[in-house]
Amino acid sequence: MNTKAIAINKQSWEEAAPRFYGRNPLPEYGPLAPTEDELQLLGEVEDKRVLDIGCGSGHSLKYIKNKLAGELWGLDLSHSQIEAARNLLSDDHVRLFESPMEKNPGIPEGYFDIAYSIYALGWTTDLHQTLANIYSYLRPGGIFVFSWEHPFYNRVYQKGEDLLLKQSYHKEGPYDHEAWTYPAIMQQFKVSTYLNALIKNGFMIEQVVEEVRLSEEDVERHTGRWYSFDKANYLPTTLIVKARKGKAVS
Ligand SMILES: C[S@@+](CC[C@H](N)C(=O)[O-])C[C@H]1O[C@@H](n2cnc3c(N)ncnc32)[C@H](O)[C@@H]1O
Repeated sequence: MNTKAIAINKQSWEEAAPRFYGRNPLPEYGPLAPTEDELQLLGEVEDKRVLDIGCGSGHSLKYIKNKLAGELWGLDLSHSQIEAARNLLSDDHVRLFESPMEKNPGIPEGYFDIAYSIYALGWTTDLHQTLANIYSYLRPGGIFVFSWEHPFYNRVYQKGEDLLLKQSYHKEGPYDHEAWTYPAIMQQFKVSTYLNALIKNGFMIEQVVEEVRLSEEDVERHTGRWYSFDKANYLPTTLIVKARKGKAVS
């Protein structure tokens, strides 16, 4: 875990939190991406123990709460985000941790039916450790679903009607995101790196989604923005993966 990068990102998120309040939470997996209502990746949530990694302002947890989950747990690096989630959920039974996802702040192991992470995993400074943690939190047969900006999306930029390849897709590692105002360090991983890291940590991959959903109302909403209608006509905005912890062999 890179403590220096985490400290920079924590500071950045304390400042950015109000700007991201309730932005693209579940049922959305990301801008211009298919939603949970359509994909049904989480399955039946009622009475399930659910954990949100990088829960932000808590709006995804609220969606899960409305589906009558049995237990709600969340983790986020930012104090402001955890406070926002606490206020939004106003429920003493929701357990929230202010912590980097790279370490376990006291989350029980072998416990959760469902873990998910919406647009947060690309912030981790240690993908393998983070996935090992998530694997350990799940019960055998439990599922993990994550979404993140598609790794090809920020490689390409739009100039007029042309789409130009700006950086090599092969290049991985820390980078400053072009659309980010405050100093912050995100991580670039290829699609195969995400999938292989899941496999190496013992997950079975059940579904990979790269589709976009473009409706007429999105033309206006997504013109001249980072997630642009034109670009999404050619490229996925969001990578969504569903994986499962293998059942214990007796
Ligand atoms: C785009 S927001 C997530 C939104 C949220 N998942 C939702 O559904 O509304 C990304 C979140 O990742 C958190 N984050 C960044 N780095 C992190 C880390 N290393 N560990 C845990 N959370 C982190 C940020 O504080 C921020 O709240």
